Amino acid sequence: MELRFLGQSCFELSDGRHNVLIDPFLSQNPKAAVGPDEVSPTTILLTHGHADHLGDTVDIAKRTGATTVAVVELAHELGEEGLDVRDPNLGGTVKFDWGWVKLTPAWHTAVSPKGTPHVAAGLLVNFGGTLIYHLGDTALFSDLALVAKRGDPVDVALVPIGGHYTMDRWDAITAAELVGAKTVIPCHYDTFPPIESDAQAFKADVEAATNSDVVVLAPGETHSVA
Ligand code: NI
Ligand code: MN
Repeated sequence: MELRFLGQSCFELSDGRHNVLIDPFLSQNPKAAVGPDEVSPTTILLTHGHADHLGDTVDIAKRTGATTVAVVELAHELGEEGLDVRDPNLGGTVKFDWGWVKLTPAWHTAVSPKGTPHVAAGLLVNFGGTLIYHLGDTALFSDLALVAKRGDPVDVALVPIGGHYTMDRWDAITAAELVGAKTVIPCHYDTFPPIESDAQAFKADVEAATNSDVVVLAPGETHSVA
């Protein structure tokens, strides 16, 4: 499978047949690799409804017919806008022909731009047998290990490092230790001044402290998972 970073927390998973898009914040992201008209997801997954995650979901889903998965209150808001939604709460799993997604806890506030309060989530995604843990926007907390180590080993962890709105790159080292993924990819940094960070320093720190490999992707770059 191919995992493409599109900026902020947006990742695209594809195997040539299915295309899963996470947190498509594109048109308003000064660092986005592509515009909202340049993606063709079959499924959209949302960690929460802050503008830098919900982003262009409504436009993309209406154009492509993609099914959107979000925590129940946010999913219902999007359903009222005409989207095809799945509405789990934390702990819930939604199955697709490409695999499944489970909503996991994240410590972060969340209200949609339209004012719908909800809880933020992480996403544990099984895409064709590859296990990806998108931590979402979160502070450091020890149950990252509980989520990551309950089932199969996590292949790829997508970890915020920008600080201010999420954990910073030092707390993210501990998060990487708790998750124990084969590969760690940093995200949610350098998009705006408050979340500037040093991804190469994070890579050096994590690779010194853990057995994980860190892959730093610029927006638009792809990582292939065997
Ligand atoms: Ni947020
Ligand atoms: Mn955010």
